Amino acid sequence: MNTLTRRLYAARTQQRASAAALAPGVADDPPAAALRPTAAVVPPSGDTDPLAAYRITREPYWRVVGDEVALYEAAYAVRMPMMLKGPTGCGKTRFVEYMAWKLGKPLITVACHEDMTASDLVGRFLLDASGTRWQDGPLALAARYGAICYLDEVVEARQDTTVVIHPLTDKRRMLPLEKKGEVIEAHPDFQLVISFNPGYQSLMKDLKQSTKQRFGALDFDYPEHEVEAEIVAHESGVDRDTAGKLVHIAERARNLKGHGLDEGISTRMLIHAGSLIAQGVPALSACRMALVRPITDDADMRDALDAAVTTYF
Ligand SMILES: Nc1ncnc2c1ncn2[C@@H]1O[C@H](COP(=O)(O)OP(=O)(O)OP(=O)(O)O)[C@@H](O)[C@H]1O
Ligand SMILES: [Mg+2]
Repeated sequence: MNTLTRRLYAARTQQRASAAALAPGVADDPPAAALRPTAAVVPPSGDTDPLAAYRITREPYWRVVGDEVALYEAAYAVRMPMMLKGPTGCGKTRFVEYMAWKLGKPLITVACHEDMTASDLVGRFLLDASGTRWQDGPLALAARYGAICYLDEVVEARQDTTVVIHPLTDKRRMLPLEKKGEVIEAHPDFQLVISFNPGYQSLMKDLKQSTKQRFGALDFDYPEHEVEAEIVAHESGVDRDTAGKLVHIAERARNLKGHGLDEGISTRMLIHAGSLIAQGVPALSACRMALVRPITDDADMRDALDAAVTTYF
């Protein structure tokens, strides 16, 4: 930092401190922002390992579907930023949890939303009894100490927020903390992973080419019948026969995507239905509640899906 930047920086810090007097707790945003949801992560105090809270100690269940594990391992070996694409509830989050466990790396997950600011990712000054102190945001924490940072539904974030990941996702592998006047050189273990659902994309909500082209991408989808039934049985506790029937219902609904349904029934929904059935809820009621009602408000579509349910239960 040159002298001028240093002075500017000191002046801005002072300004922030006075703004913070009005908005206790948040020093770098206007008072109203104190109410906004923030993605900032506070590591448990007194912890010597700043990433302790993000280490995955138990193996997450992942049913291998194809070559996704080997491909991800190869991408991690060269620290290629990765993009997981696929419909809701098909296993993207579970996969990244599994891979973080398999690679023995901590995982910091951020649910992106349109009010998210660059400060929510990078960090901000906070006021406490001892004065102003810097708090790393989840991205800075991951880059500084070496975690996998997973930005879930990244298209939800505004493009001016998304660009903060650019210097981290090219050869530079660095994160400038402009407000703090620091540049973090990413830890060798750091990797960035983003997810998005291409089906929800609109012209307004897409990633810039300059963002997309920094990533390798893996496509996810609902697995084929037998594999999905195995997953549903494992996760919900229903028998394989019942799980198979649930998958048949989902397959019917998936064929209606674009013909009255925005999205088909996901693996996640099948697990919900299966869990209800495993608890003793009659299958018909479980399917109506967990599979049909959540995805349609249209009476005709609801009746058509209810009819599909009755052919199996
Ligand atoms: N191959 C798989 N192995 C094990 N579990 C799976 C697999 N695929 C899906 N699942 C199950 O499906 C559930 C939903 O998956 P997950 O939450 O990872 O979806 P997602 O793709 O991240 O959805 P969203 O886009 O809505 O966040 C998981 O909790 C898990 O139980
Ligand atoms: Mg997810």
